[in-house]
Amino acid sequence: MIIVSEDILKAADILKEENLVAIPTETVYGLAGNIYSEKAIKAIFEMKQRPFFNPLIVHIKSIAQLDELAKEIPEKARLLADKFWPGSLTMVLKKQESVPDLVTAGKESVAIRIPNHAATLALLEALDFPLAAPSANPFGCISPTSASHVVNYFAEKLRMVLDGGNCQNGIESTIIGFEDEEAVLYRLGSISVEDIEGVIGKIQIKNKKESAPHAPGMLSKHYAPVTPTFLINDVAEFIKEFPERRIGLLLFKDKVESTSLIHQEVLSVKGDLKEAASNLYAAMHRLDMKKLDMIVAEQFPDFELGKSINDRLERATAK
Ligand code: TXA
Ligand code: MG
Repeated sequence: MIIVSEDILKAADILKEENLVAIPTETVYGLAGNIYSEKAIKAIFEMKQRPFFNPLIVHIKSIAQLDELAKEIPEKARLLADKFWPGSLTMVLKKQESVPDLVTAGKESVAIRIPNHAATLALLEALDFPLAAPSANPFGCISPTSASHVVNYFAEKLRMVLDGGNCQNGIESTIIGFEDEEAVLYRLGSISVEDIEGVIGKIQIKNKKESAPHAPGMLSKHYAPVTPTFLINDVAEFIKEFPERRIGLLLFKDKVESTSLIHQEVLSVKGDLKEAASNLYAAMHRLDMKKLDMIVAEQFPDFELGKSINDRLERATAK
């Protein structure tokens, strides 16, 4: 049986035995294993049913640990680390020899971040190895933002979820890489483009939706509910066409006029994009559990975290 517990030492023991633990972070829960254990890393790919060409993010405990794993670190990366770590920024950097190929899918680069969650920072402190951790969901499914989401996915296979409550930020980290020292954004996420540009100036955005991507957070179909899902500008108008259907609505701040067949999730009554982001996946999980005929999501304002939310909604609704 899966253990759901706040016991950090227990989690550390399981990880030291080269087994996996789901860990809380401020973005989403991760499915974690020792980066130096081939057994653990293979188990991550297998449990997620994730293709081996899709590299993992390495979670470290301090900026001091960065040079163990990465080299030729650009000045802009140092600035971003100082500003945002611990936090929801992942940086793709040139890897040191010591980082196993299995973790980086054979790439010369490694993706690294320091998560901002007290329990997971304490856990990393108790270990003498970094943790590789993709989001703790089967490949392509909605990411988990609570321990119970992880249990729903992996109760049969996983030894333990370290329970750290609901994830504060609620969508994945923003991923930045460097091409000739210039910063490039590969995945929109919990830190807005505006906030990144506030530190290092204008960045290039390369988060194209592809079916065989070079940084696969970019897979066009991803983060998807099982229920057919649509992204629509005018939700109230759209649902009029389906008076008999059981529909779930994913809305920014205002409910729409509707019948009892409609279930509404409003992500932030006060219209706060950060709050909306933190509620997004939990609302998607709730709607998906109701076995509705369809889920209809509203297009968000296209700035700050609204951009990141729209990105996830587009991938959730991609064909
Ligand atoms: O917020 C997050 O980043 C969460 C928490 C658990 O830290 N993790 C997460 O991991 O979202 P995952 O595996 O679901 O997404 C990692 C993304 C993938 O799109 C992967 O392709 C990309 O990071 N990535 C990893 N290593 C890379 C590399 N060397 N170059 C380019 N992209 C890389
Ligand atoms: Mg993921």
